[in-house]
Amino acid sequence: MTEPSPEPTTATISIRPLIPEVAPLLGSMTFPAYRHLLELAPAPRHLDDTTQKPIQPIAFAAWVGPKPVGVALAEMPLEGTNSTADPEILSIFVLQDWRGQGVATQLVAALEEAMRERGYPRIAAVWMTGRPSIPAIEHILELRGWLPPATRTISVRFTPEEAARTPWFQRVKLPEGRFEIVPWSEITADERAEIRRSHEAAPWIARGLEPWTHDYYGFDPISSLGLRYGGSVVGWVINHRISADCVRFTCSFMRHDLSRRGRILPLYTESILRLSTAGIKECTLVTPLEYAEMAEFLRRRCASAVHYFGETRGSSKRLGDSARVRGNDEQDAQPR
Ligand SMILES: CC(C)(COP(=O)(O)OP(=O)(O)OC[C@H]1O[C@@H](n2cnc3c(N)ncnc32)[C@H](O)[C@@H]1OP(=O)(O)O)[C@@H](O)C(=O)NCCC(=O)NCCS
Repeated sequence: MTEPSPEPTTATISIRPLIPEVAPLLGSMTFPAYRHLLELAPAPRHLDDTTQKPIQPIAFAAWVGPKPVGVALAEMPLEGTNSTADPEILSIFVLQDWRGQGVATQLVAALEEAMRERGYPRIAAVWMTGRPSIPAIEHILELRGWLPPATRTISVRFTPEEAARTPWFQRVKLPEGRFEIVPWSEITADERAEIRRSHEAAPWIARGLEPWTHDYYGFDPISSLGLRYGGSVVGWVINHRISADCVRFTCSFMRHDLSRRGRILPLYTESILRLSTAGIKECTLVTPLEYAEMAEFLRRRCASAVHYFGETRGSSKRLGDSARVRGNDEQDAQPR
């Protein structure tokens, strides 16, 4: 009698650090936007975002003999930058035939160990809900002792036609007379200076929604709007074109004392009507949970009309002791 041969799957899987030479074999195992990171050279996370600083990619691959069956990709702060950011897992992928055998779990474990060895106190991950594999990813992180996932942002994707089917579209009107909606490109330099001066004298704009933090690198001229009231600019919707037929709603705000009863909604309506006329096919909007009113608006008044409604969630894991600990944070971090 011969010995039974070992299970042809788990017995033959080995997890090894990725080397750049095999990157061309693995391109299909991460998101297209991250493929350049498989070269393992310092680079911005997204090549088309000029505001991002370079990070150091790191990856592990799962092999069955000469065949790669899975990849986990992460980023670390670049050496010498004094960044205190946690290393972050960017993607995990396992070929269909090799799923359910612990490959992804081993890849996550390998990344955790690599970060621990390098002295990082924590490792983090951020992901979007809505993909079929997300429950498995969350289960793997739970198995590996990560903090329970916490929602960070809400995202929606919609067509102008879907927006037109929401219960608020074209329903709210601004009181006649004193309000005027104008293209953001028509807001004068003096008006822009006055928004800033008045805010610096007595803050009235929610943190992160200041127009100058979003339009300095350009804006979509068709759908970005300002709202004048009594001679002052009191609101705005600032958008960016992210591809030929897709626009991101980047920032919207209306002065608090004027924004009750949904008075910002006519700006959204006008913006969407203009996008529809311009033939824009897709709109995106992401709001951090800290903008509670917007998050609630998306959940209650938009979710049922749009073709994508999802959350970004995040988690992290404390990595325990290592020979060389970076930073001095002894507490478990809340996810960023
Ligand atoms: C997600 C993915 C990486 C998992 O790979 P894998 O090698 O099959 O994962 P593992 O075998 O290590 O672990 C999967 C675990 O999740 C569990 N699981 C699978 N489907 C699940 C579900 N729908 N809900 C909860 N748990 C689930 C499995 O039972 C297993 O847990 P167990 O060990 O306790 O049984 C793989 O499915 C994949 O590549 N998906 C496509 C890529 C992707 O969407 N990646 C996520 C975004 S980066």
